[in-house]
Amino acid sequence: MKNYYLGQIDQIRESDLFKSEKYIYTSQSSCINARDNSGNKTENIINICANNYLGMSDHPEVIKAAKDTLDTRGYGMSSVRFICGTQDIHKELEERMSGFLGTEDTILYSSAFDANLGVFEALLDDECAIFSDSLNHASIIDGTRLCKAKKIRYANNDMDDLQVKLEEEKGAKIKLIVSDGVFSMDGIVAKVDQICELGRMYKAIVMIDDSHATGFIGKTGRGTHELKNCMDRVDLISTTFGKALGGASGGCISGRKELITILRQRSRPYLFSNSISPSVVGGVLKVLDMIGKSTELKDKLERNTNFWKKGLTDAGFILTKSDSPIVPVMLFNAKLAQDFSKDLYDCGVFAIGFFYPVVPKGKARIRTQISACHTAEQLEKALEVFTKVGKKYGILGKNREEIIEMYPISDKL
Ligand SMILES: Cc1ncc(COP(=O)(O)O)c(C=O)c1O
Repeated sequence: MKNYYLGQIDQIRESDLFKSEKYIYTSQSSCINARDNSGNKTENIINICANNYLGMSDHPEVIKAAKDTLDTRGYGMSSVRFICGTQDIHKELEERMSGFLGTEDTILYSSAFDANLGVFEALLDDECAIFSDSLNHASIIDGTRLCKAKKIRYANNDMDDLQVKLEEEKGAKIKLIVSDGVFSMDGIVAKVDQICELGRMYKAIVMIDDSHATGFIGKTGRGTHELKNCMDRVDLISTTFGKALGGASGGCISGRKELITILRQRSRPYLFSNSISPSVVGGVLKVLDMIGKSTELKDKLERNTNFWKKGLTDAGFILTKSDSPIVPVMLFNAKLAQDFSKDLYDCGVFAIGFFYPVVPKGKARIRTQISACHTAEQLEKALEVFTKVGKKYGILGKNREEIIEMYPISDKL
């Protein structure tokens, strides 16, 4: 049996798909110290791949709020919510999230992954149908697998395909359309307004995963439903506290009251997994205070993102058509993505290569992510380094076919 798994590991390595981790020994920020698994330390690396969109992960006010809550509400809950795991601040956070997202009610989970795992099975049975975008996050895919409803995949952001499929299944007892609000690998915003319109036409529940949007997308950072002017038309929003809202952990589903009430009664990760720790709740509440008062950080994030996208485009890189701070630099070949990432690291820039199974075969990339806490100097330096490494591999100004000719697709698994 051991040899079977060793063989699999060899195969992953031979296909250039083996992922290794660096160890950060500072707090999460736009500038970090890290060491590799041989113990080699590198200091003051510019971090351009965290989900730390608003720079809250090490914000002094958030840390203070978390510490204060540790003092007043303790370390852990040692219980799920319905036994003795609900503090006043859990309720407060649910109410504050509903207020922020413009919804009727909210239910907390230990993570957005758990939220997505727990939602479908609780609401739908084998007479129902789920219409899921083909680029949806892994947690949505896994969540739908746990549910007996018929699963129908529609082509990414393709409303004609979604409509054809809704038409084919229009007899289903309950229909639910689910999409990422921002597709996490490409940074492209979903056509949430058109999804809502199809939802209305076919009487389907609309669910949007705004994990890469809550806090910074839309005029006041409410998310993709604000951006697309359909705040009151999305029935369910799932989102995370593990990115813009502090970056620690936790997530929620927010939406129509009757749906949230059913989740509280039936959703398995809610019923059978521990409550979010009080200090994390305290931290998220502080983030909500801060972003509720001003859009300063969101505005800075937008300016930083525009600077970064323009700089990379002018340098001759191929980017996706991202409309968010997720800015993927397309390299196509998995080994090239790994080598590129290593060279960036050696020059003081931390950005990870993404390849199969995280993205489809032949679509390897460096996914960069911009933060409000990046300084102009950090972004300029990172741009210089990207350009230097891009030149080394001869890919600047080249189109997809030319890059693939130089670096044939090697993701064999
Ligand atoms: C779209 C999307 N949904 C859900 C999740 C899971 O979030 P969490 O880290 O809170 O489990 C992620 C995280 O990668 C995500 O990108």
